[in-house]
Amino acid sequence: MNNDKLEIRIYNDPVLREKARPVAVVTPRHVEIARQMAEMMYGSRGVGLAANQVGLTERIIVVDVEWHKREEDNTNPGRQPIFMVNPEVTEESDTDDVASEGCLSLPGIEGDVWRPASIRYRYTDLEGRPVEAAAEGLKARCIQHEIDHLNGVLFIDRMEPAERKKLAGQLAKLRQSGPVRV
Ligand code: NI
Repeated sequence: MNNDKLEIRIYNDPVLREKARPVAVVTPRHVEIARQMAEMMYGSRGVGLAANQVGLTERIIVVDVEWHKREEDNTNPGRQPIFMVNPEVTEESDTDDVASEGCLSLPGIEGDVWRPASIRYRYTDLEGRPVEAAAEGLKARCIQHEIDHLNGVLFIDRMEPAERKKLAGQLAKLRQSGPVRV
């Protein structure tokens, strides 16, 4: 990749509404993108980031939902990013769960979102190996939120319309704001 520094794209950026394309073969370029994404996620104190959020429409996400806790506990290493290429949910629980979500692309916005409480999922790791796993709780929520990004979907799309309406003023302000540099 060239030397352009990646930056986190905010709500008004159309790339957040694009559908990212599958990665055919994991190359060193993807590894470098993933590494930069993790740096930006940790730098912004986030727990997940999708490639669309840094302006790239390729199916790559990074997730690390417990690093704050590990950092507080002084567990080494505090940062254990999970890189997922072409992540896919293969099974959803019948039970849904609600929790408040936020997003690095929607600074200052939070809202309750219902999602399947647990999932099974698969992805390709940065060595090109297929991985299958299960998740629940915050990790399941975060993976679903990031896969949504790859499909051009934001968490506000999944909020109850009445709840989303309350955010209209804040969203309008975000829409007018320029890119946020991180
Ligand atoms: Ni997000």
